[in-house]
Amino acid sequence: MTVKIAPSILSADFAKLGEEVRAIDAAGCDWVHVDVMDGHFVPNITIGPGVVKAIRPHSAKTFDVHLMIEPVDPYIPEFAAAGSDIITVHAEAGAHLHRSLQLIRSLGKKAGVSLNPSTPESVLEYVLDDLDLVLVMSVNPGFGGQAFIESQVEKIRRIKALVGARPIEIEVDGGVNPETAKRCISAGATALVAGSAVFKGGPDAYAANIAALRG
Ligand code: DX5
Ligand code: ZN
Repeated sequence: MTVKIAPSILSADFAKLGEEVRAIDAAGCDWVHVDVMDGHFVPNITIGPGVVKAIRPHSAKTFDVHLMIEPVDPYIPEFAAAGSDIITVHAEAGAHLHRSLQLIRSLGKKAGVSLNPSTPESVLEYVLDDLDLVLVMSVNPGFGGQAFIESQVEKIRRIKALVGARPIEIEVDGGVNPETAKRCISAGATALVAGSAVFKGGPDAYAANIAALRG
């Protein structure tokens, strides 16, 4: 099975987001990863549902929307309506993870849970049948271009065991490059997010950058 590549548009040129989304689509990405930050749950502010809606017509690929916001539930319907396909919330962002996952699925979207580097995989135990994706943060969320945290490779391995035969994607986000990607894939990752490693070198390099991550 080939690993899915989800370029994070956080590293794209924000002045031409539509073009950038078309360029990664043409370069062979599988998903488009959208990092939503609120300056409260994480120390950075990025984009809202209006931007998701604006870039949606630029690619038919899966929009993988990573919500780093707290509270999260009040905003889920808007991100769903904006054209998200997968909506991922942080386990740390609220007391009612099960409720958030049910809300996402009730809107006809795939539901994901993201774990910060210090959060143990045991938080997934009672929601395994309510989710479609686990997003393992291999950096502290907030910024692109940070170094990969090695301890998360073992977490990927443990999540793979926990998931068993369930059809759940295991996605890794942060510091993914052709070298760290190998370890993520062999531990059980089925999807990789990459910002700097995809967007470096400009549009002419995107196809080669994406291919290099597949190993
Ligand atoms: C971090 C974001 C990531 C990040 C990845 O908070 O969720 O998606 O932009 O960027 P790189 O690949 O540069 O670490
Ligand atoms: Zn992300």
